[in-house]
Amino acid sequence: MKKTFLSSLLLLALFVSKAGEGMWLPILLKQLNEKEMQSMGLKITADDIYNINKSSLKDAIMLFGGGCTGELVSDQGLVLTNHHCGYDQIQKHSSLEHDYLTNGFWAQSLAEELPNPGLSVEFLIRMEDVTQKVLEGVTASMSQAEREKIVSKNCKAIEKQAIEGSHYKAYIKPFYSGNQYYLFVNEVFTDVRLVGAPPSNIGKFGGDTDNWVWPRHTGDFSVFRIYANKDNKPADYSKENVPYQPKKYLKISLKGIQEGDFSFIFGYPGTTREYLPSQAVNMYANERNPIAIDLRGKRLDIIKAAMDADKLTRIQYSSKAASISNGWKKWIGESMGIERFHAIEKKQTFEKQFSQWAQTASGGKYQNLLETYGNAYNEYSKVYSDFTYLAEGPLSVELIRYTYSFDRLVKNCNDPKVSDSTIRVQINRLKAAAETFFQNYDRTIDQKIFTSLFSTCITEKTIGNYPELVSKMVKKHHWDFANWAATLYGKTMFTDKQKVTNLLANFKRSDAKKIEKDEAYTLAVQLYQKAIDEFSPKLDAFSDQLDSLQRIYMAAQMEFQPDKRFYPDANLTLRVAYGFIQGNQPADGVDYKYYTTLEGIMAKENPDIYDYVVEPKLKQLFQTKDYGRYAAKDGKIHVAFLASNHTTGGNSGSPVLDGNGNLIGINFDRTWESTMSDLMYDPEICRNIALDIRYCLFVIDKFAGAKRLVDEMTIVE
Ligand code: ARG
Ligand code: GLU
Repeated sequence: MKKTFLSSLLLLALFVSKAGEGMWLPILLKQLNEKEMQSMGLKITADDIYNINKSSLKDAIMLFGGGCTGELVSDQGLVLTNHHCGYDQIQKHSSLEHDYLTNGFWAQSLAEELPNPGLSVEFLIRMEDVTQKVLEGVTASMSQAEREKIVSKNCKAIEKQAIEGSHYKAYIKPFYSGNQYYLFVNEVFTDVRLVGAPPSNIGKFGGDTDNWVWPRHTGDFSVFRIYANKDNKPADYSKENVPYQPKKYLKISLKGIQEGDFSFIFGYPGTTREYLPSQAVNMYANERNPIAIDLRGKRLDIIKAAMDADKLTRIQYSSKAASISNGWKKWIGESMGIERFHAIEKKQTFEKQFSQWAQTASGGKYQNLLETYGNAYNEYSKVYSDFTYLAEGPLSVELIRYTYSFDRLVKNCNDPKVSDSTIRVQINRLKAAAETFFQNYDRTIDQKIFTSLFSTCITEKTIGNYPELVSKMVKKHHWDFANWAATLYGKTMFTDKQKVTNLLANFKRSDAKKIEKDEAYTLAVQLYQKAIDEFSPKLDAFSDQLDSLQRIYMAAQMEFQPDKRFYPDANLTLRVAYGFIQGNQPADGVDYKYYTTLEGIMAKENPDIYDYVVEPKLKQLFQTKDYGRYAAKDGKIHVAFLASNHTTGGNSGSPVLDGNGNLIGINFDRTWESTMSDLMYDPEICRNIALDIRYCLFVIDKFAGAKRLVDEMTIVE
């Protein structure tokens, strides 16, 4: 008796520590995962999670703004997502007078909720395996290009048929590297309003310093609302629109969580590459990442110094800095993780076994596959490195990017076949774009970045990779990049809002000449042409070859391990990941407890460091322990927690759900060691970071006094 108890305990411990890998398709949960999920603690059924005939949890989950996840939490279309997912909207509504980024924003009534042109959310209506129809007419001997032509033609026809007579949108995406295809039919809402956001020193507490790091204390949430027309159907913004009444919304649990509790995440993971050969992992971790890390680090140093020195600059550049820094820091963690946990060696061990099997299996058709594939990657990595220098270097300079947006206009003006009305439409677009661009542009910062990036990327050795004008100017300025930048930024009209506005105000076709005479324009066009004319065809040729090899390698891996349950790589489609609430020991001597508390925020407080300023009101609530019903059993406010749910970029804002399908947290990050999970998941190492829903509601209710929002929600205590 004792023995079996002990061994079952051990088994459970093993199970718990190994849980977590996989981003599963909701449509296959019943078949592949339901039993396991229930044995781990799921109390509802796969049908409750995904069903197209009755309302299910999937109806409460949305793709938010094309790159994040959001979830419905009331019958009035109320949405929760991350603060960093609503950041652009919060920033766009901010100015020095109404600085919502710094001070937060809380609409006191429906009428005060702020519209966000351009923001949309999408709900999945249904998905379907359409592999057979998509591959109709495809043969094994076809080239990748021929194959893609047929596939794309078939897809178009299937998509069109799928939405006939409806207001839905349809698309097909490849899975398992193009071995399977699924159709998605979605409903898109375009009137999505900002309802509330905490001040940045809650919503972004810890900032880029704590980003990707545990222990974490970021109150990373914001609140939106979906509006629909009177028939509850999607409609563009209108005063007449009313709050959307959804088929399903999530209930919120204030019961609290324990280590070892089952949890699952329902959302839109963006990209993973779990099934690549070792050479590819080597390329990302040891060649591509270091280049991008270096170049982004240089940009960030310049931007951060300017942000620290000036308040307006902080508003203008905080969103840009956050996105540059996010990739920069992630890639550092990824490369570090790949090395520390011997990911390449692990792949190589697998490849040895695979190659042995491939000698004879399937009539030897995979015999040389890995060798060919590995060689192709080694070739590719040289081109990819050069391209990374260009893309993360000169093409990341704002002046270059912005100026290039005038290229279409110039070409159209010079083409007599293009009508005046087309040009007028373009002018209007450029006028609007100028407003947004210059609102957040600082010429001095950009000039410094130009100097730094150009001088890093363009050397005696690499100058051949750059266009003619670069060589000419470098010689003219005797390799003094600061001097070149000063002259260029002083002369061009594209660093000056007034000049651009004047140009566009009474624009005539012949004014295209003025643009063509601008050195920044010529430089931008030549740099982009380099990318488009030289790199694109090379990269495309490689990606045709690599895609085709990966498709075969993926199929071969599935054949090699017939008993393994394979999950498809993330591709920004709705997935379920499940595991447990749990901390871990990511390194010798390091123990990550599974949750953090308000105490930790107070301990990190430092009025002199922007990322660690604590809001006085929050401090007061802490001092008086005015926590209401949001405290945990230990009497504290729990801020964030760790879980073993396999996630990636795009899962930001995803609901973390308990065994009953109730909301317990909002996913917003991974620990630094885990970022390698986009290339290889390690159950011991990988943990996602979620905001405890009780902290979120505490901030809404006690801190912001926005009780009207909590009253809309359904709370389980
Ligand atoms: N690392 C998280 C993600 O990948 C959060 C990013 C936003 N926060 C920030 N401090 N940059 O998106
Ligand atoms: N913060 C990420 C996002 O914006 C999620 C974290 C991750 O990459 O796991 O989607």
